[in-house]
Amino acid sequence: MTEYFTEARSAEAVIARNAAENPRLQQVMAVIVTKLHEAVKEIEPTQDEWMQAIQFLTETGHMCSDWRQEFILLSDILGVSMLVDAINNRKPSGASESTVLGPFHVEDAPELPMGADICLDQKGTPMRVHGRIVDTEGNPVAGAKIDVWQANDEGFYDVQQKGIQPDFNLRGVFRTGADGRYHFRGVKPKFYPIPDDGPVGRLLRALGRHPYRPAHLHYIITAPGFAPLITHIFDPDDPYIASDAVFGVKESLLAAFKPVDDPALIAAAGFAGPFLDTEFDFILARAQTPPK
Ligand code: BEZ
Ligand code: FE
Repeated sequence: MTEYFTEARSAEAVIARNAAENPRLQQVMAVIVTKLHEAVKEIEPTQDEWMQAIQFLTETGHMCSDWRQEFILLSDILGVSMLVDAINNRKPSGASESTVLGPFHVEDAPELPMGADICLDQKGTPMRVHGRIVDTEGNPVAGAKIDVWQANDEGFYDVQQKGIQPDFNLRGVFRTGADGRYHFRGVKPKFYPIPDDGPVGRLLRALGRHPYRPAHLHYIITAPGFAPLITHIFDPDDPYIASDAVFGVKESLLAAFKPVDDPALIAAAGFAGPFLDTEFDFILARAQTPPK
């Protein structure tokens, strides 16, 4: 029987019309229509408010380009990126937790010898970063690929400052040997704002929120037989550690950035002056389907 549209059964009228061949699409749209109609019924927007919402989404689309994805930023500040990440990266107990990828990864960063300095312009407070890549039983993972990238001491990635920072500044790829150990040099990163010159920035301001992410280093760690790990380590003393604009901080990802100023320790580590020492072990979960 035809179901004509009524306010009371608005969602049912729409869902009854859908006849997608793809059952997943049918299911997803039924949930979305149900929840969207519930929200509209609770909010009771005026016609003018509804147009403002349409205008906001239109501007969000117009802001998107090959190098700017405003819809992902919107998903980030609403906590949806972290929720999708959590659902898709449920880890066995003890494995390192994941967090958002972010827009500043580049595919072709150079593979460097273990111990290399990824800071190509000698700006900022030097930092030694080291630790082990292990499995959930604590065994070293050999042949793990560690792709790391970070913002500089002013809170900018190289790709945001072309011509100011050298290309591939503060990026590198390292591979573990039999002991699973890694070490490299970088600089203390600084907190930075997510791109906030568009509709998402305006929304943050209207909501009384700031756009900052606390200082962090990004990692993608892959190894044969293990689930890829996309994560960060964070400076626990950062002013924005408890209010990351994109909800990316997890307690297990706080790493100590320990100042070293003892001349003997500085000399032993091969630094020219005081530096920060950051030790962090990454624990990889086995891949769910064994590789063929
Ligand atoms: C980042 O950490 O690089 C990032 C993550 C989400 C939005 C913007 C930047
Ligand atoms: Fe980042």
